[in-house]
Amino acid sequence: MVARIKNKKSNVDLRTQIDGAKIVKEKEAAWKKFCTIQRTRKFLKRRRIRKESDAILKEVLEMDDATITSGVSVPKTLAEALPTDIEKRNNDMRAIVVTEATGSFNMVGCNKAWENLCGFAECEIVGKDSSILQGPDSNYAGLHDAVSRLFEGEPKVNVITNNYRKDGSKFINFLTLAPLRDEASGKITHFVAILNDVGDKISKRKNKA
Ligand SMILES: Cc1cc2nc3c(=O)[nH]c(=O)nc-3n(C[C@H](O)[C@H](O)[C@H](O)COP(=O)(O)O)c2cc1C
Repeated sequence: MVARIKNKKSNVDLRTQIDGAKIVKEKEAAWKKFCTIQRTRKFLKRRRIRKESDAILKEVLEMDDATITSGVSVPKTLAEALPTDIEKRNNDMRAIVVTEATGSFNMVGCNKAWENLCGFAECEIVGKDSSILQGPDSNYAGLHDAVSRLFEGEPKVNVITNNYRKDGSKFINFLTLAPLRDEASGKITHFVAILNDVGDKISKRKNKA
C-alpha cells in the first residue's frame, strides 16, 4: 500500500517535471521566433536605409563635376588628419574633424577649413558630438547606418545629410568618414570626417537640367 502511494507520488512528480520542461521548451521556441522576427525587421530596415542613402549618393557621384568627391584623399592617422604643425593644419583645404572612436563620438579637434564651413571655433566643439550640426532635415538614419558601416570594417564611407552651421544656416554635407589607426598596432584610435558643402553644385546641376 505504502509502495503504491509512493509510486503514484513519483509519477505525479515526473509528470510535473515533464510539463515544466515542455513549457520551458515552448517559451524558448517562442523567444527564438521573436528574436528572428526582430532581426529580420532590423535587417530589412537597414537595407531600405542603405538603398535610399546609396541612391542619393549615386545621384551626386554621377554629377558632371567630379571634384566633389573623387579628389578627397582620406588621412590614415591622427597626425595626418590634424598635424601638430598649426600652419600645415590650417593650410589643408579639406574641412576635417576628428572624433573619438567610442561612445557618442565626441570631437577632439578640427582644422580651419572645418571652422570656416561650420562656423564654430575648435574650442567650442571639443568634447561635444556632431549633433551640434544636426537639425530637422538631417539624415539621421543614413548617418547612423554610415557609422555602423565603419564598425563593420568599411575603410571609407560616404553619406549625404543636411547640416546646420552655428548661425543656423543649412548646407548639404557630403560627408566622408574613415577610421584613423595607430601606425604601429594598426588599431583604430579615432574616426575622421571630411565635410564637403555640395549645395551649390547640386543646385547648379538642377538649374542645368
Ligand atoms: C568622425 C565622425 C564625424 C561625423 N560628422 C558628422 C557631421 O559632420 N554631421 C553630422 O550630421 N553627423 C556627423 N557624424 C555622425 C554623428 O556623430 C552620429 O554618429 C550619427 O548622427 C549617428 O548617431 P546615432 O548612432 O546616435 O543615431 C559624424 C560621425 C563621426 C564618427
